[in-house]
Amino acid sequence: MMVSEKRAFVQLLSLYLFIQFSATAANFFEPFNVTYDHRALIIDGKRRMLISAGIHYPRATPQMWPDLIAKSKEGGADVIESYTFWNGHEPVRGQYNFEGRFDLVKFVKLVGDSGLYFLLRIGPYVCAEWNFGGFPVWLRDVPGIEFRTDNEPFKREMQRFVTKIVDLLREEKLFSWQGGPIILLQIENEYGNMERSYGQKGKDYVKWAANMALGLRAGVPWVMCKQTDAPGDIIDTCNDYYCDGYKPNSPNKPTIWTENWDGWYTSWGGRLPHRPVEDLAFAIARFFQRGGSLMNYYMYFGGTNFGRTSGGPFYITSYDYDAPIDEYGLLSEPKWGHLKDLHAAIRLCEPALVAADSPQYMKLGPKQEAHLYWANIWTNGLNTTLSESQSVCSAFLANIDEHKAATVTFRGKSYTLPPWSVSILPDCRNTAFNTAKVGAQTSVKLVEYALSPKISVPQLVMTKNEVSGIPESWMSVNEPIGIWSVNNFTFQGMLEHLNVTKDESDYLWHMTRIYVSHEDITFWEENQVSPTLVIDSMRDVLRVFINGQLTGSISGHWVKVVQPVQFRQGYSDLILLSQTVGLQNYGAFLEKDGAGFRGQIKLTGFKNGDIDLSKLSWTYQVGLWGEFQKIFTIEENEKAGWTKLKRDATPSTFTWYKAYFDAPDGKEPVSFDLGSMGKGQAWVNGHHIGRYWNLVAPKDGCSKSCDYRGAYNSNKCMTNCGKPTQSWYHVPRSWLQASNNLLVIFEENGGNPFEISVKLHVPRILCARVSESHYPPLRKWFHPDVIDGKLSISDMKPEIHLQCEEGHIISSIEFASYGTPHGSCQNFSEGNCHSQNSLSMVSKACKGRNSCFIEVSNSGFGGDPCRGIIKTLAIEARCVSSSTIGVSQF
Ligand code: GAL
Repeated sequence: MMVSEKRAFVQLLSLYLFIQFSATAANFFEPFNVTYDHRALIIDGKRRMLISAGIHYPRATPQMWPDLIAKSKEGGADVIESYTFWNGHEPVRGQYNFEGRFDLVKFVKLVGDSGLYFLLRIGPYVCAEWNFGGFPVWLRDVPGIEFRTDNEPFKREMQRFVTKIVDLLREEKLFSWQGGPIILLQIENEYGNMERSYGQKGKDYVKWAANMALGLRAGVPWVMCKQTDAPGDIIDTCNDYYCDGYKPNSPNKPTIWTENWDGWYTSWGGRLPHRPVEDLAFAIARFFQRGGSLMNYYMYFGGTNFGRTSGGPFYITSYDYDAPIDEYGLLSEPKWGHLKDLHAAIRLCEPALVAADSPQYMKLGPKQEAHLYWANIWTNGLNTTLSESQSVCSAFLANIDEHKAATVTFRGKSYTLPPWSVSILPDCRNTAFNTAKVGAQTSVKLVEYALSPKISVPQLVMTKNEVSGIPESWMSVNEPIGIWSVNNFTFQGMLEHLNVTKDESDYLWHMTRIYVSHEDITFWEENQVSPTLVIDSMRDVLRVFINGQLTGSISGHWVKVVQPVQFRQGYSDLILLSQTVGLQNYGAFLEKDGAGFRGQIKLTGFKNGDIDLSKLSWTYQVGLWGEFQKIFTIEENEKAGWTKLKRDATPSTFTWYKAYFDAPDGKEPVSFDLGSMGKGQAWVNGHHIGRYWNLVAPKDGCSKSCDYRGAYNSNKCMTNCGKPTQSWYHVPRSWLQASNNLLVIFEENGGNPFEISVKLHVPRILCARVSESHYPPLRKWFHPDVIDGKLSISDMKPEIHLQCEEGHIISSIEFASYGTPHGSCQNFSEGNCHSQNSLSMVSKACKGRNSCFIEVSNSGFGGDPCRGIIKTLAIEARCVSSSTIGVSQF
């Protein structure tokens, strides 16, 4: 090359590099590195204490994502966490889907746009109460495959998918070093629970998975959760209700809590779990107190298992999880607000928490202890280039006594700690927060009939015929029982359910013919016996039909079937419909799990002995005729000969229903109340809203009051005993048009569609109760005068903060008393001491506004209503949509 050529080449190269560099330059952040030490993740050179909010993107719609992310940020999250969902992204081998609810890139970008970081747990086994734990069902069919072990076919498929995800994110420049939000990745999921089942191969698989992940050069650290032998640089992390004792397997790794279970999931026929926020806050404060550095809420928003994504078997369609943001995207208060305060308190401690390499431990009593984080830090002084030293000190005081409060002395000052609580002292002196003292508002959400147009009315005051929003006219069409198309096949013997359905439908029809002789009939009559269908083991639901008549329904997870049946003389059709209700998502050897029937399957009680049904010739048919015809879609539904349903029609099994309805006005979340139906699936404008099943929770097992004290488990503080587990089914607003929405329902058991109604979920009532002795609001710590030292935080007064959901304002104050009020939300009453102007002061501050702050002090209420007594302010307020009364939001 000539010299001038060389120069031109260099110029071109630098131009190219410049373009490349500009293209890879920061899109959300200035590119930054993520590393770690024993104390924390190190983000752009600085240790960080991080709060992470778990949101599974396909459990919401893309239209919901921005609001969920914004609510997480406002709640104090630094990071958004999600799994990836392999079976959603690769429903057919080699055919990828990153659209709609599965638009991972869009979701990560929205998180980046909001200035939050991202933790992506790729798995690709994820558990998550998600169908088959996230594995595509086609994975079972890869020759020679064994899941989650040292098995070449499995490793090949896993590596292909994980590589696909990492490459996609790199191409989209979503890693931190590219200026993207992703700071941390996860490979596998709780494999430590399964490893022993796989012997040496399990150990080898862990090493392989670690090396494979690291080999992808994603440029951010990786974690493995519940994996005490996580190799090399991979950080082993904790998943549990409490993780404050957790120590990673190397002194060089930070303590990370990937799943803080702030609630739990639910099965059909189960009670609803509830984890009290006082205990949740206690667990989190203890984690940071004892050296933790990153905590992720599993879940911050749980959402909905739309379609057939629910795992199981038997997990319900709602994945509300009792999370701080409810299934509908509304704040669950006081959970969200109390945790917001906790996060602010931890944020105040962050400089000391990251500066100190480890805490100083102090025993304060038999069950009381303090951890103090103290360090000298060097900062650049104002107006000078010289560094100056400043000391930082934060402390956590814990009372782990489950029953009694304790008064402790810490650095010469006395502190009273409620039972099972932690006080957080960002300056080692003043309490910013105590986990058991909830100052945040409570919000009561009403589920109201949607009326057209404009207004909604609380359920209690409705009479039925006032209700609209309920489809008035219904059409129906029967699902044929048994074999309905030419797409069937006949096979000598019993086939495994999933091998046939490939999980393309819940339903598999099996049909055979049984011959009954005159002698059999006489035998049954003489001996007063009837033949019985006996199956060693079955899951999840079996329906038995004889000559088209439903004669038995059985459900359970690998349960024995003993079902008496009746035949007439001659040939009869015996039809078995086996059904899945969400595939297994947890356990070893998932590929072998299967569905349908196991073991012997026979008809007993015949004169010449048992009939071994597994030897007969069976005709198989996958799925329902209506599913195959897609009669739930706008385009195809007309094809199905619908007929008008009479109001007094008797409930019929295996029936399709359809109706049209108008969307309720406003922005409030919408659901269908399917409480009048039995079991089936529902679609709105072709969107599958999920399975429904009207099973009732046991009457017992719920306690009237929930005591937050003591270690939580998912059976504690249960609610909803004796009621249907789920009656409301979320219909995302974005799936609705203003009018003429198509609702299609497939009903198996028989129900009354005329009773189906459209409901609105409205956060109507706000309550709060804060005493004079409560600590000042967390935001006061950020007040410039407090930061500058002109004012002490101890001069600040406590406050009540009320806030309606966006688009709503406080329309009335139903109760307000500054004094000694009694009772709790929706049940407050005045006590002996009551400031006469309570109502007017609170009304003045709050009415007509979306949000208001009221100081809890004598001066706020024109003087002391009763000297020498600690006063409390209790408020109950109502919120209404600002559009309904034509007042704009403040
Ligand atoms: C964990 C698992 C999660 C989820 C959770 C229960 O063990 O890692 O994916 O299944 O349990 O909600």
